[in-house]
Amino acid sequence: MSFRVLGTGSYAPPKVVTNDDLSQFLDTSDDWIRQRVGVKERHFSVNETAADMAAKAASTAIENSGVNPEEIDLILLATISGESQVPSTACMVQGLLGLNCMALEVNAACSAFDFALETVAGYFARGKVRKALVIGAERMSRILDFTDRGTAVIFGDGAGALVLEAGENYIDSVFYVQGDDEVIGCGLPVGNSPYYERGQEKKPLAYMDGQATFKFAVNAIVNDCNELVRRNGLTYDDIAYIVPHQANMRIIDFASRKLKVPMEKFSVNIDRFGNTSSASIPMMLDELNRAGKLKRGDLLLLPAFGGGLASACCLLKW
Ligand code: UT7
Repeated sequence: MSFRVLGTGSYAPPKVVTNDDLSQFLDTSDDWIRQRVGVKERHFSVNETAADMAAKAASTAIENSGVNPEEIDLILLATISGESQVPSTACMVQGLLGLNCMALEVNAACSAFDFALETVAGYFARGKVRKALVIGAERMSRILDFTDRGTAVIFGDGAGALVLEAGENYIDSVFYVQGDDEVIGCGLPVGNSPYYERGQEKKPLAYMDGQATFKFAVNAIVNDCNELVRRNGLTYDDIAYIVPHQANMRIIDFASRKLKVPMEKFSVNIDRFGNTSSASIPMMLDELNRAGKLKRGDLLLLPAFGGGLASACCLLKW
């Protein structure tokens, strides 16, 4: 027993920031960002927290599912950009939604939505929950270094959510972790213990070695998708859509060519939202669902990759 999807929702804050807007204070250009990343605009929070965005995406997913909110037994939230370590952003979302259920958080950076799906599958397998909310929500603008053109132009804010119930539609998954804080990271403030040696502080803003991440990402998509297709006796003709983490249009393009799977099979909205980290896959799923593009029984691959370093891919039947 695993789960099936009953409804989807998403939310992006109303402020739209174009590449030209960023060029006002960064040494960059609309041309460079479109060509090297594939982003035309992104949404940035002015005052909404990751929890606020998560709650809005979750509310629309609950509405879309037709489920009575009282039936939801678990909120599982993927995020790296909450306001506090305590309470967790997941607890804040539970409070905002007024639900009486357990809430916990998964941190696996941009791959975290897949890690959250895997975690929730365990709860369903044990018969512990009837309905669950799985959410990816990021206020990336909170942890971005807006003086660093290598990261500030890529990311955006937003949230996506799924309502799940027990079922058999979570078919298979792969996960890979290669612990490393050189390639991608974001520190936390160090406390004021009088016993600490100095110099331990890591910048509490996101940093990334773009090229190393790019290579890791392309290999991750290719290896993880191939592994799931092979071991489930499928071909890419059996897959309705590949819904990848929206990190960079060129990463998706490279993966498409390496896999010899046409770009039409890849769902993409990075041009309008940028890279929303753990929110990108559920936001894309909601867009596909609301556009009526997903049919019951469609097979989807959800490859994700990023900080950790970590990568993951889920094979999901709609
Ligand atoms: O979601 C989490 C995982 N993250 C990712 O998957 C992101 C992976 N990496 C990337 O998407 C790309 O590596 C970046 C978009 C971050 C950078 O693109 P790139 O094609 O790898 O650029 P680069 O770092 O090789 O830099 C190429 C040139 C350099 O100039 P020179 O040395 O050739 O003169 C950079 O200084 O582009 C310059 N550059 C920029 N120019 C204008 C770097 N960033 C910018 C910028 N605007 N924002």
